[in-house]
Amino acid sequence: MSLVRAVPVSCGHYLPARVVENAEFEKTLDTSDEWIASRTGIRRRHFAAEGETTSDLAIAAAKAALANGGLSGTDIDAIVLATATPDQTFPATAVRVQTAIGMEGGFAFDIQAVCAGFVFALAQADALMRAGLAKRVMVIGAETFSRILDFTDRGTCVLFGDGAGALILETQESAGGPQDRGILATNLNSDGRFADILYVDGGPSSTGTAGVVHMSGREVFKHAVIKLAQAGEAALASAGLETSDVDWLVPHQANLRIMTQTAAKLGMPIEKVVVTVQDHGNTSAASIPLALSVAAGEGRFKRGDVLLMEAIGGGLSWGAAVMRW
Ligand code: UT7
Repeated sequence: MSLVRAVPVSCGHYLPARVVENAEFEKTLDTSDEWIASRTGIRRRHFAAEGETTSDLAIAAAKAALANGGLSGTDIDAIVLATATPDQTFPATAVRVQTAIGMEGGFAFDIQAVCAGFVFALAQADALMRAGLAKRVMVIGAETFSRILDFTDRGTCVLFGDGAGALILETQESAGGPQDRGILATNLNSDGRFADILYVDGGPSSTGTAGVVHMSGREVFKHAVIKLAQAGEAALASAGLETSDVDWLVPHQANLRIMTQTAAKLGMPIEKVVVTVQDHGNTSAASIPLALSVAAGEGRFKRGDVLLMEAIGGGLSWGAAVMRW
């Protein structure tokens, strides 16, 4: 049975100019480059400049994706943007991108699933495209997490960074089997019983402030490896594929140890894992599209390669997506 698939066209990314090495945190906190690098794999991250907003990052990533695909804003009919750090409470950051890239018509909205946001946004784009509501969709993950960090909390502030990545998808009639290009399956999950192990202590209807990140790191770590492997396996099963069919694991970049342990649980060698956490830190919803764009830019993905993406974050919310390049 033929099917409409959401097929990747191009990607792009943007990182703010300011690079913050681990050593910078040694000046103000009881921490060390050695602790951060050995526990997380992170060596540096980018922080947005004063006045530089999430939409500024997203717009730069969107323009890069358009340029890489030889497209213009008028070729896009929807933007799905994942962020937990929007410019404003409303409107959606996505509409700022819509205007900046010269998109005429269509629609644009934000998705909030924190670090799992990009996988949730991909699933949303896939569903919209298969329902006939959009033909060419830009999926963006963009964050300025540095704005919601407590720089006195060494357990969180050393982990996160700012950045944005964008992926353009377009509909294509396909045979309807696992050999098709495009998004083959997605798997989404949330469990609000764990909402308090990773949260921000602010919001418009509670404190009226933006708040800062709080995390029980060890707790989140334990959930991460188990849930990410489960979601990956479930998405592969829905796609009619097995772990041995996967060419690249493109995980959320939170911690190298989580990525290594998840790959091991899935029975995948580390050489097949795209790792950018050393240079970006944890950029929440931006981490997978950043990793995608960096790896694509290096020519690592060949047409027909199977990519497995997986992410977990506050909620807890987690999921996976299988996409043939
Ligand atoms: O993206 C959303 C999802 N988030 C994640 O996936 C993050 C998941 N969690 C993690 O990545 C890890 O749990 C962390 C990197 C956050 C922490 O690593 P850990 O190996 O789980 O360390 P821990 O929290 O068990 O802390 C071990 C020790 C503690 O000291 P004591 O109690 O053993 O004396 C911490 O106080 O390390 C201490 N510590 C630090 N020491 C130096 C915590 N942060 C730091 C630090 N520098 N920055």
